[in-house]
This record gives sequence, structure tokens and C-alpha cells, in this order.
Amino acid sequence: MAYNLLKGKRGIITGALDPNSIAWKVAEKVFEEGGRFVLTNAPLAMRMGKINELAAACQAEIVPADATSVEELTNLFEKSTEILGGKIDFILHSIGMSPNIRKSKPYEDLNYDWFLKTLDISALSLHKMLHVADKTDSLNEGGSVVALSYIAAQRVFPDYTDMAQAKATLESIARSFGQVLGLKKRIRVNTISQSPTMTTAGQGIDGFDAFFSYADKMSPLGNAPAEACADYCVSLFSDLTRHVTMQNLMHDGGFSSVGISQHIVDALTPKS
Ligand SMILES: NC(=O)c1ccc[n+]([C@@H]2O[C@H](COP(=O)([O-])OP(=O)(O)OC[C@H]3O[C@@H](n4cnc5c(N)ncnc54)[C@H](O)[C@@H]3O)[C@@H](O)[C@H]2O)c1
Repeated sequence: MAYNLLKGKRGIITGALDPNSIAWKVAEKVFEEGGRFVLTNAPLAMRMGKINELAAACQAEIVPADATSVEELTNLFEKSTEILGGKIDFILHSIGMSPNIRKSKPYEDLNYDWFLKTLDISALSLHKMLHVADKTDSLNEGGSVVALSYIAAQRVFPDYTDMAQAKATLESIARSFGQVLGLKKRIRVNTISQSPTMTTAGQGIDGFDAFFSYADKMSPLGNAPAEACADYCVSLFSDLTRHVTMQNLMHDGGFSSVGISQHIVDALTPKS
């Protein structure tokens, strides 16, 4: 059921690669709620993905941009305000990639050039987006920015390697920019720390199926699916959350507050 929560709002949604992408679900929900937006992704990913189908379904235009390039981001904001006919009210940052994870490098033997790439793509890209948005004065008063994070920013998970540092940096950038943009224009900047979700990025991590089912068995509500994450994003883009900013918001079915669940106790208790 839709409530028109985003009627009249204009946005930019990054990271929709295929129908499993969290950003894909966010785009669908935002469209249902009356929001209009530009879709963007890295030029290479756009050729591999199915973003054109999403654009047609949501009556959205696509502006390619590598989120590590200030020049391409400047073009993204210029084109988006032109296409949408005004300043931007909401941004979804849904971007993550680690060459070290792709190439299965163990944490104690990271390639440092790739480490820098991980940080640039997955964390600094949020800083670059907000820097460009601020410099070009592309954001509306009272706008809202959401970036997607993971609890590996606070706790250690095997095989998440340098993405853990990227997520910690991403959350820190959201806080620091939240202060700047809150003071300037009452713009909110938050991160959502999402449950493991079956997407291309998620499934690229070794042992992901185990992460997924362990988190599911630990969480009283089970893992939060991508559709529920999209609902949460809609609420944060809406005017109903005008005073929520600089937060890392757990969207994990309760996982982060559980020490051990009965499911896990049962699974580890020897059967007599
Ligand atoms: N899937 C999970 O378990 C999970 C859990 C918590 C948080 N997240 C986060 O959610 C976000 C979205 O990931 P997803 O799981 O939907 O996977 P996904 O693979 O569908 O999305 C990742 C997106 O990042 C884009 N991207 C990569 N490099 C880019 C660049 N240089 N410029 C612009 N875009 C680039 C990809 O093209 C892709 O669309 C990521 O930040 C991810 O870390 C995912």
C-alpha cells in the first residue's frame, strides 16, 4: 500500500544493478510513493546490468557516473537537477566493491592498491557525492541522504576483509557531513546497517550463505529483506523523519542486540 510519502520529491538513486540489488527495490518503492528520480551506476556496470528495465518501469532517466570521479559526479548533479526540474531532495548511496574480496585476498595479505580502491569506491564516494552536491548547491533545504552499511563496521566477520574498514569510514563520513549539511540546510545524512541480503555484492563474499543463515537464526525477526530496507529508506527520505540525522540505523531484525539465540544454543548443544 502506498501513502504518497514522497510526492513532489526529486532524488538520485545509485547502485541498482539487477532486480536483486537493494537499490532496485528502493527505486520501486520510491516510485510507488510518488518520488521522481534519476538512476545512476558506473558505466561498466550499466552495460552488464538491467538498469534500463528499471528505468522504464519507474519513468526514470539514467545518468552514468563512476562514483569515484568528482568530474562525473558533477555532471550527474548538473544533469539530474536539469532532468528533474529542480534541486534534489533525497540521495541513496548504495555502492560497494572490494577488489581484494573479488580476488579472495586474505586480510593479512591485502593488496594495498586494491585496498585504496575499496575505500574510494565504497566510502569516499559518499564524501565526493556530498562535496559535489554542496559545491553545486544541488540539494534542497530539508533533504535526506541515506547510505547502506553493514555491521562489520563494528564487529569482525571473516572474509569481509577491507570492506569492514570501508563501512566504518562510510559511517564516519555520514556523521561528519551530517553536521555540515544539517547546519547549512537541515539536510539529514544517515547510514542504514542492513542484514545480509542475497545480492551480487553480498554473494561475492566467501562464506556468505553461512553469514546469511547465522544472522537469520540470531535475529528474533529474522534477516531484514531488501524490500523492508526499501521501506525504511522511504521513511528516511520522507518528512516523517525530519529530525533523524548522523545516525547508523540498525535494520537487522534485532541481530545487533542479541548475544546468542535459542536457535544457535540448540544447534551447538550435543544431542544426548
Ligand atoms: N547484500 C548485503 O548483504 C548487504 C548488507 C549490508 C549492506 N550492503 C550494502 O548495500 C549496498 C548495495 O549493495 P547490494 O547488496 O545491493 O549489491 P549490488 O551488487 O546489487 O550493488 C552494488 C552496486 O555498487 C555499484 N558500484 C560498484 N562500483 C561503482 C562505482 N565505481 N561507481 C558507481 N557505482 C558502483 C555496482 O555497480 C552495483 O550496482 C552496498 O553498499 C553494500 O555494501 C549489502
